[in-house]
Amino acid sequence: MQALLLAWFQTNGRDLPWRRTRDPYAILVSEVMLQQTQVERVVPRFLAWLERWPTVDALAAASPADVIREWQGLGYNRRGLNLHRAACIVAADGWPEDLTALPGVGPYTAAAVANFAFCRDVLPVDTNVRRVQERTGHSFSARSAQALMDLGATVCLARVPRCNSCPLADACPSRGRRYEPVRRQSRFEGSFRQRRAATLRLVAAEERTLAELDREAVESLCADGLVAVAGGRVSLPA
Ligand code: ADE
Repeated sequence: MQALLLAWFQTNGRDLPWRRTRDPYAILVSEVMLQQTQVERVVPRFLAWLERWPTVDALAAASPADVIREWQGLGYNRRGLNLHRAACIVAADGWPEDLTALPGVGPYTAAAVANFAFCRDVLPVDTNVRRVQERTGHSFSARSAQALMDLGATVCLARVPRCNSCPLADACPSRGRRYEPVRRQSRFEGSFRQRRAATLRLVAAEERTLAELDREAVESLCADGLVAVAGGRVSLPA
C-alpha cells in the first residue's frame, strides 16, 4: 500500500512552497495558516508572510498590530496572534521538545512540524489522512504524510471518491463507495464571527471610539488580545 502511494505521489504530488523547506518556522507558519484555510488561499499569503518576516526572530520583533494586519482575510485572527506569541517564545528559548507547549499548536500541528521540519517519526493525522486510513484500513507510516494529504485532497474525496484514478483502489475495501454529504462549516454570514471580523477590520484601518463599534464584538476581541481598549478608544495591541 505504502509503496503504491509513494510512487503515485512522485508524479502526482502537489508542488507546494512549504514542501521546499525544512525550516521549522516556515513550516509552522504554513501549518497554522492551513488549519482553517484552503491550500490555494494559503499559498500567496504564506509567500508574502515569509517575505515580510523570513525568520522566527523577525516575526518575534514585529508588533502584534502588524501581525494582525498581515493576517487580515485569512480568518480566525487569533491564529495570527498565537503564531506571533509562539515566535516570541521560540526566539527567546528555542524550539521546545513538546511543540504543543506553543500557543495555537495542538497535536496535529505539532506532529506536522515534528515530521516535516524535524524529520521525526510521527504521522500528522488531519481529516484527509484519517479518511484515507479509515477507507483503506491501512496504517501508513510517517513517511507517507504529504502523500496521504494529497491523495485525500485530490482523489480520496469525502463524498465521491475518484477511485478510478486511485493508486490504492485494487487493494481498497471501500472502493466504489459513496458517502453522505459532509457537514459544512457553519455559516459565516450573519454570525458572531463575522461581526468580530468586521469590527477588527475597522480597528485595523484606524483607531476607533467604542461608541462607533459593535460593543459585544469589541469585548470578545479584547478578551482574545486582538484589540486594546483605553479611555473609550479601541486600537490594535501595540
Ligand atoms: N494541510 C495541512 N498541512 C498540509 C500540507 N503540509 N500540505 C498540504 N495540505 C496541508
